[in-house]
Amino acid sequence: MKDKLKEIRERALKEIEESGTAEKLNEVRVAVLGKKGELTAVLKGMKDVDASERPKVGAMVNEAREEIENALNEAKNKIESKVREMKMAKETIDVTLPAIRPLTGHRHPNQIALDEIERIFIGLGYEVVEGPEIEKDYYNFEALNIPADHPAKDEQDTFYITGDILLRTQTSGTQVHEMEKGKLPIRMISPGRVFRSDEVDATHSPSFHQVEGLLIDEKVSFSDLKGTLQEFAKELFGEETRVKFRPHHFPFTEPSAEMDVSCFKCGGEGCRFCKGSGWIEILGCGMVHPHVLEMSGVDHLKYKGFAFGVGLERIALLKYEIDDMRLLYENDSRFLQQF
Ligand code: DAH
Repeated sequence: MKDKLKEIRERALKEIEESGTAEKLNEVRVAVLGKKGELTAVLKGMKDVDASERPKVGAMVNEAREEIENALNEAKNKIESKVREMKMAKETIDVTLPAIRPLTGHRHPNQIALDEIERIFIGLGYEVVEGPEIEKDYYNFEALNIPADHPAKDEQDTFYITGDILLRTQTSGTQVHEMEKGKLPIRMISPGRVFRSDEVDATHSPSFHQVEGLLIDEKVSFSDLKGTLQEFAKELFGEETRVKFRPHHFPFTEPSAEMDVSCFKCGGEGCRFCKGSGWIEILGCGMVHPHVLEMSGVDHLKYKGFAFGVGLERIALLKYEIDDMRLLYENDSRFLQQF
């Protein structure tokens, strides 16, 4: 019995020492101390031991069990702390790594250009108003001196909703809405979305934005228009910017003009940016046609006015030297992040 105990004890201690994992340790515990374990079997065999020997043998078994249990616990602690150490080593945080920046929104180039345009005109005493994107034929064409058979109506490929209702092809209808309100004088700009059934390419889109401008007052002349738009161009493109007005035709203004600005890349000498001409066209403008004033309920003998229309995308593309309009609509964050 003694030898048997000694043998069990020694083997158990050796196995404990050799077992490298918690699972292995548990196997040893079950094999030795479990219900059907070796030491348990010895205890069960106590009844066969001579009564005089029993206390001594019992003490020996207890001693062996205690020793094995201690060894088991010790080994268990060792294994656990080793596992923890390994885990810690693997999970180390490298505080010197650059952090991953959270993606934040950016203002769209169109919005930056619009904010700038609004800032300039608000500074000149203009109000910002909005007009409807879904419009009556009357406001988009007729009241702007573009009757049904006018060739200008063909120039703008219109999305019609019904025979009479359409998606506006220009923001100019806002001029009429503002004049119809009957509050004079008027100084307004009206930014907004317009629609034309155009194919998408680097310079066209079926939906883009314009900023309309209108000033109505007594004694307004073409010089007021020129002075105002010259100031606008200088604010937008830099103090050294020169402007040039070329005669043009719009049905709702008379006389009409297109305004060019001196190329802000080459200063007017001619470069790739301005296609060698030194000038860049940026807007249409003119004195509001008496027909338009009359149809909108404004006394054309007492009041005069000027109007202008700017393509917002055109300004954004020019200002940020973007060469393809489609980039403005794709909303690729890698593109937008640059602004
Ligand atoms: N509505 C014109 C267009 O879409 C732009 C324009 C030109 C607006 C002259 C005006 C203006 O107010 O006076 O091409």
